[in-house]
Amino acid sequence: MPHLLLSDHKQISTPTIYDGVEFDFVAHHPLESKIAVKTDNKEFLLTLKNKDNNKLLKLDTSTRVSPVSLAQKALNSYANLCGANILFSNTQPKTKKLEPKKEYLKDIEYFVHSFSITKDIYIEVGFGSGRHLIYQALQNPDKLIIGLEIHTPSIEQMLKQVKLQNITNIIAVNYDARLFLEFLDSNSVQRIFVHFPVPWDKKPHRRVLSDEFINESLRVLKPNGTLELRTDSIKYFEYTQELIKHFANTPTKIIKNQDIDITSKYETRWKKQGKDIWDVIFTSTTKDAKIKNQYDFNFENNIISLENLTLPNKPMVKKDFFIHFEYRYITDKSNGLIKLTFGSFNKPVTKYILVQDGKLSYYQGLPLPTSANYKAHNLIKEVIFDIS
Ligand SMILES: C[S@@+](CC[C@H](N)C(=O)[O-])C[C@H]1O[C@@H](n2cnc3c(N)ncnc32)[C@H](O)[C@@H]1O
Repeated sequence: MPHLLLSDHKQISTPTIYDGVEFDFVAHHPLESKIAVKTDNKEFLLTLKNKDNNKLLKLDTSTRVSPVSLAQKALNSYANLCGANILFSNTQPKTKKLEPKKEYLKDIEYFVHSFSITKDIYIEVGFGSGRHLIYQALQNPDKLIIGLEIHTPSIEQMLKQVKLQNITNIIAVNYDARLFLEFLDSNSVQRIFVHFPVPWDKKPHRRVLSDEFINESLRVLKPNGTLELRTDSIKYFEYTQELIKHFANTPTKIIKNQDIDITSKYETRWKKQGKDIWDVIFTSTTKDAKIKNQYDFNFENNIISLENLTLPNKPMVKKDFFIHFEYRYITDKSNGLIKLTFGSFNKPVTKYILVQDGKLSYYQGLPLPTSANYKAHNLIKEVIFDIS
């Protein structure tokens, strides 16, 4: 992380522009200050804190900026503007490593802003080595195969195969499968494969399959579309049988020791050991209402005083989301920042709320449009406006 150690110096006056960097405001907390900067159309925060008799200046880790050279530019510009001596710097540009183009790896923002359905879709959850994912892509060149995986080396390996075999109908996403389906339209997917998910025998709440996941799968599946679990874990199988009971109107099929055309290295090993393998298939029968996450993350009201706002210092935990107000940074009475962490337990987000003349908005843009973030947003509003 780029940072500078600076000699003690006076606070800069804002707003001002220096070396092509806009310094919008400085907001204070007893432990550190946040400096809001803009350069090359990107906004982010710098953190300034005391270190012995000097000051440490670094990029705020919750407000990421890319490329990192923009952060380096802002740090050096601040040092020149405040006239402090630079006692240590690691902001020298390094020789750029050319990252291979990852055409078939998309981030979640792509699904929020740019994804449009042009083909039938298959999804594989936790594709691991990618053997089954690649097989499906080769067998079904007219379909789009979306692979979800949280283990980065597996993604890298799989993408190498995609390149070697000139495959063009795979999209890999490094995202938790339990939260991904929310970003898809209803009735848009034909098959969802969950092959040999991590059994999580000691922590069953971490399993991919749950009532919520099955519900979301049935929503995104087309009528006759299928959610297909394949497992060698007797405990996972028994757990799934319990889940089936909650879906009385959904046809399900259980098949024991079915051979399929492609086997993963796990499966080959287990078959040699004489282990049983179960397939559990849920079939969607209904056409669901078109639900696409249209969440409003605005703050309709204003606050009178950020200074006098007392926020709960303990996390507020609800069934499937939480909010935790961390710090308040004050510029003056009705301006500054509120730092908070919120959303789902599996994918919480840390963001700042910008307070300008009592008006509130999310700094660096809105949170991802997920139901957990939206529920959290409503609770944040309730807390802030009830007590201001
Ligand atoms: C036991 S491996 C099975 C891999 C592959 N399906 C196979 O049959 O060889 C489970 C895979 O699921 C991935 N995984 C676990 N939890 C996940 C989640 N919530 N979302 C996406 N992938 C997940 C793991 O990283 C791992 O690669």
